[in-house]
Amino acid sequence: MAAAHRVAAIAVSGSPGRRDVLQNLAAVTGCCNTGGMERQEVPGASGLLSEVAAAEAELRAAADRDRGGDGAGVAAGDELAAYFDEVVGADQKIEPRDWMPEAYRKGLVRQIAQHAHSEIIGMQPEGNWLSRAPSLARKAILLAKVQDEAGHGLYLYAAAETLGVSRAELFDKLLSGRQKYSSIFNYPTLTWADVGAIGWLVDGAAIVNQVPLCRCSYGPYARAMIRICKEESFHQRQGFDLLYTLARGTDEQRAMAQDAVDRWWYPSLAMFGPPDAESTHSTQSMAWKIKRFSNDELRQKFVDMTAQQAEVLGLNLPDEALGYDQPSGHWRYTQPDFGELMRVISGDGPCNRQRIEHRRRAHDDGAWVRDSAAAYAAKQRTRKAAA
Ligand SMILES: [Fe+2]
Ligand SMILES: [Fe+2]
Repeated sequence: MAAAHRVAAIAVSGSPGRRDVLQNLAAVTGCCNTGGMERQEVPGASGLLSEVAAAEAELRAAADRDRGGDGAGVAAGDELAAYFDEVVGADQKIEPRDWMPEAYRKGLVRQIAQHAHSEIIGMQPEGNWLSRAPSLARKAILLAKVQDEAGHGLYLYAAAETLGVSRAELFDKLLSGRQKYSSIFNYPTLTWADVGAIGWLVDGAAIVNQVPLCRCSYGPYARAMIRICKEESFHQRQGFDLLYTLARGTDEQRAMAQDAVDRWWYPSLAMFGPPDAESTHSTQSMAWKIKRFSNDELRQKFVDMTAQQAEVLGLNLPDEALGYDQPSGHWRYTQPDFGELMRVISGDGPCNRQRIEHRRRAHDDGAWVRDSAAAYAAKQRTRKAAA
């Protein structure tokens, strides 16, 4: 049987041992089983979902506070810049109506667009397995997950549009290669276990990257991220559950799970971007409170979380140097190949061409939907004007 069509039978009901572990994970918190799993993974730290909830509470509190100053419509010249600095300094949110430095606006457009493109292109590797999921339950879960990613793309394109760019312009930049998407989605999904490895590692890395963005200084982006992070948490949980089931299945299933983890580990580490010393956008982004932690800090946080999850899964991370360092309280690990990251980003990954061709075809095939929606909206406007 060809590797791409290899789907081993998966038992839907777990063994008592599996149930115990999952119940223990869930019991750590009263709010949700995902939070329990994450809290167990980071001893002494609150769960990632708790961080999202705290960011959401801060956002609501900030909206109720008087922001001070006269606002963008009244201030002029240097006062505009002072007002912007004051709002950012006070951890309030910059809104679309506010004046902002052009570099802040451009940087946000670049980041939000790249994020939105990643959500949309990221539907392809897993979409590849929708028609071959091994059970109805797994298929329903994967459908929900892939559909969530389309929704994430939608929230993010909408957030980018508040900065004065159109969605058509952003699509055009994606399809012409002038804007990038995450390098991770240029790797192929060879077996069903890859769906689990993507959920566990790729969505896991995405959450670690994105939870701090819930506190981003730009309001529409921060609000979109709160909703996205809650859903990403479910994505990571489903990947963990899938791999947990395979790891306790037949020898072939276990080997399939280990092989997927072996292939996805280093590309997932590379998702955090180049090392801090080589990162071009970080300093200004941190000063404007768009980014809150450096690439290396976030990568370490991900390793600390994931190394402990791997132990619960009973799978190995493919790094002989991996080990807990008592004095620092962190896990030692081997850095990914950043040369490979740069090659994949610049278009030389295993699936770059395939991903963009597929996206272009889908965009062209959907032209009639966009035309129909525009024609309907025009008809409604005409009727309203005549009434
Ligand atoms: Fe997503
Ligand atoms: Fe996701």
